[in-house]
Amino acid sequence: MTTELFLEEVNKRRTFAIISHPDAGKTTITEKVLLFGQLIQKAGTVKGKKSGQYATSDWMEMEKERGISVTTSVMQFPYGDCLVNLLDTPGHEDFSEDTYRTLTAVDSCLMVIDGAKGVEDRTIKLMEVTRLRDTPIITFMNKMDRDIRDPIDLLDEVESVLNIACAPITWPIASGKEFKGVYHIYRDEVILYKSGMGHTIQELDVIKGINNPELDQRIGYYAGQLRDEMELVKGASHEFDLELFRKGELTPVFFGTALGNFGVDHMLDGLTEWAPAPQHRATTTRTVEPSEPAFTGFVFKIQANMDPKHRDRVAFLRICSGKYEKGMKMHHVRIGKDMLVPQALTFLAGDREHVEEAYPGDIIGLHNHGTIQIGDTFTSGEKFNFTGIPNFAPELFRRIRLRDPLKQKQLLKGLVQLSEEGAVQVFRPLDNNDLIVGAVGVLQFDVVVHRLKSEYNVDAIYESVNVTTARWVYSDDQKALTEFKNKASTNLALDGGDNLTYLAPTMVNLNLSMERYPKIKFHKTREH
Ligand code: G4P
Repeated sequence: MTTELFLEEVNKRRTFAIISHPDAGKTTITEKVLLFGQLIQKAGTVKGKKSGQYATSDWMEMEKERGISVTTSVMQFPYGDCLVNLLDTPGHEDFSEDTYRTLTAVDSCLMVIDGAKGVEDRTIKLMEVTRLRDTPIITFMNKMDRDIRDPIDLLDEVESVLNIACAPITWPIASGKEFKGVYHIYRDEVILYKSGMGHTIQELDVIKGINNPELDQRIGYYAGQLRDEMELVKGASHEFDLELFRKGELTPVFFGTALGNFGVDHMLDGLTEWAPAPQHRATTTRTVEPSEPAFTGFVFKIQANMDPKHRDRVAFLRICSGKYEKGMKMHHVRIGKDMLVPQALTFLAGDREHVEEAYPGDIIGLHNHGTIQIGDTFTSGEKFNFTGIPNFAPELFRRIRLRDPLKQKQLLKGLVQLSEEGAVQVFRPLDNNDLIVGAVGVLQFDVVVHRLKSEYNVDAIYESVNVTTARWVYSDDQKALTEFKNKASTNLALDGGDNLTYLAPTMVNLNLSMERYPKIKFHKTREH
C-alpha cells in the first residue's frame, strides 16, 4: 500500500462516542446514525432495551433480566466520504469506569441533551472527563417534538454549566406539537419536519433562504417569528469557529428529534466535516503521529466473557498509528514479548467479525486469557507506553465479605484480577483487613459477586462502608508523606496495584485533609 492510500484511510476516519444523561436519547440517536450508515434496514434494532433484539452480548442472565447491555460495542459505518467509528458508552445501570475510559479513546464526542431537561448530572461528569484531553464536542439538542425549554436558555446553560461556547448551526422552529423544522444557519435553508417518519431516511423538504416567501406560505406565523429570533440569536451566540471547536472550547449545536430522525443528518454532516481525523497521541517517550507507518495502539477496555462458550476476554485496542493486518505480530510492551495476533475482531454494529486490516482511529478486539490489561501499549517493537488512559476515582464503595472465611486468598486474587480488567477497583485499608470495592456504576458490584462465584468459586456479600470518594496520593517530599501516612492512616489504603489511596468518608473530610496537608497531592485519576 502506498503512503498516499494509507493516509487517505487515516484521514477519512472519525472516531467518536456519545455523552449524555440516561434517557436523553443516546440509544435512539445511535439507531438513526446507524440507519444513515446503512447498517440496519429499519432503525430500532440497536439495543432493544425492551424488544430483546440485539442479543449478541447477553452473556449473563443478570443482563437479560435487567434488559440492559453490560457490554460495550464499537460500531463502524460509512457516512459520506468518511468511515465513522462510534464507541458505545454504557449509560444506565451499566454505567462504569469503562464509560469514562472509552472517552479517552476517541477523537471527538457527541453530547446529546434532552431539550426539555437541559444539562443533567451525568453529562456534567462525562464532560469533565472529556476535558482531560480537550476533546472536541458536538451538541445535539434532542426531543424538539416535545415542549422544550427556550433554546437560548439551553445554550446559556451549556455555556455556564459546562464552560464551553455554543455556536448554533441549526435553529428550531417552535417545538412540541408545533415543531416545524429547523433553520440551517450556515446553509441559509429551512428544512421542514414531518412527524411519524422516524424509522426512515426521509426525503428532505427544503426551502432555500430565510426570506423566501414560500416559507410564509408553508409555516405562516412561524416564518416571521424565526426571522425575529435569528436576529436575536446572531447577536447572542457565537459563530462557528473550526479552530476553537478543535481545541474543545466551542461546540457546534444542532437541534432535532432523534425519535423523528430529524436533524441527525445535519449533525452527522457536521461531525464528518469538522471533527478531527485520528489525532496524535502522547507516550512516555514521544508523540506518535497517526501517519507513522509502524503499528501502535493501546488498550482502553477489557471485556470478559463476551462469548460464554469460550470464557475468553477481549481487549479493545485503539490503533494510533500504522496498519493492523491479519496474522501480524505485535510487541506487548509491558511484558516485553511479541504476540502473534491471528484474528482480531471488529464490531460491525454488534456482530463480531474478523478483520483483515484496520487503521488508526479503528478499534480492534484482541482475544486473550488475562495477559492484557487496561492501559497496555502494543507497538511494532518500540518501547514506550501511551499515556492518558487513567483509572478514575470510584464514586461508590462497599466492603466485601466472604461467606466462607477460608477463601480470603481466592477473594483477593479474584478482586485484583477483576480490577485489572478495569470494572472495579479494590482497596485494602492500611489499618485493618477489610477489602473495599470501589466502582463508578452500581451494576459493577453485582457483576463482581457474580464473577467471583462463577470464575473463582468464592461466595461473597457486600456491606456498606463509610467512604464517599477516593484520591490517589503522592508527594515529592518523603518526610511529608511519612508524616501524612502516620497521621491519616485510618483513611489510607492500597489499591489493586499497591498505590497509596486516601479513602474519604465525606467531601468535607477530603477538603480538610487537602488543606491540612498542602505537600500531599490528591489525584482523581491515576495513570497506568
Ligand atoms: P438513552 O439511550 O439516552 O437512555 O435514551 P433512549 O434513546 O433510550 O431514549 C429515552 C426515551 O426517550 C425513549 O422513550 C425514547 O423513545 C425517547 N426519545 C428519544 N429521542 C426522542 C425524541 O426525539 N423525541 C421524543 N418524544 N422522545 C424521544 P421510552 O418511552 O423510555 O422508551 P421507548 O418505549 O420509546 O423505547
